[in-house]
Amino acid sequence: MKIAVLGTGMVGSTIGTKLIELGHEVKMGSRTAGNEKAKTWVSKHSSKASQGTFEEAARFGEMVFNCTHGMASIEALRSAGSANLKGKILIDIANALDFSKGMPPALAVSNTTSLGEEIQKTFPDVKVVKTLNTMNCTLMVNPGSIAGGDHNVFVCGNDEGAKNQVKEMLKQFGWKTASIMDIGDITGSRGAEMILPIWVRLMGTLGSPAFNFKIVKN
Ligand SMILES: NC(=O)c1ccc[n+]([C@@H]2O[C@H](COP(=O)([O-])OP(=O)(O)OC[C@H]3O[C@@H](n4cnc5c(N)ncnc54)[C@H](OP(=O)(O)O)[C@@H]3O)[C@@H](O)[C@H]2O)c1
Repeated sequence: MKIAVLGTGMVGSTIGTKLIELGHEVKMGSRTAGNEKAKTWVSKHSSKASQGTFEEAARFGEMVFNCTHGMASIEALRSAGSANLKGKILIDIANALDFSKGMPPALAVSNTTSLGEEIQKTFPDVKVVKTLNTMNCTLMVNPGSIAGGDHNVFVCGNDEGAKNQVKEMLKQFGWKTASIMDIGDITGSRGAEMILPIWVRLMGTLGSPAFNFKIVKN
């Protein structure tokens, strides 16, 4: 499949690399064509990897990953162009973490809305699926690296078909079926994003980002 990965940071490059390993064609998007990080990422991969602007990547992708800075995701997606996103699955991994007042970051949107919901409202023709935002990026594509892979990833979105396709993609990333927790429609993003304050605190306590949440039930 042709997939757009919007974002040149560690998440974009980690997701992009995994997708290439799985045999997909990936175009990494940035504010500018020829972004140095995007060019470096492309140079490490086969001809299945390419780069361009957010707009070029969104036009290329049959499916789109949002791996942009959460405070700028709506702006980045606007420059990707609603016509280029229309009807497509948009997998939103971003967190709207506001570091403007230092550490710990605040959530720019929370409680009564979330970034996932704001993206869905701004782009009603897009099938937004929120997932993978609750863990470090190395775990996103290699869940088996801790606890035998027995920990959880949350998925939410309004379109059941889109969610099912994303769940299949998560299985390709290494997630066990039992680890994939469907938390309903896109309003589930509130909870998924509000996990971040405790995630940030735990990273300080544990001294490592290599941890995740595991839900247990009777
Ligand atoms: N790091 C993790 O392990 C992790 C885990 C879970 C979730 N997340 C979330 O995943 C997202 C990506 O994280 P990251 O650490 O890989 O990268 P990041 O530094 O948060 O974001 C990098 C991307 O954001 C774009 N960007 C920054 N400011 C922008 C603006 N004003 N307008 C448009 N685009 C802008 C950059 O564009 P250019 O390419 O043009 O520079 C770049 O592509 C974030 O939302 C983060 O909260 C990260």
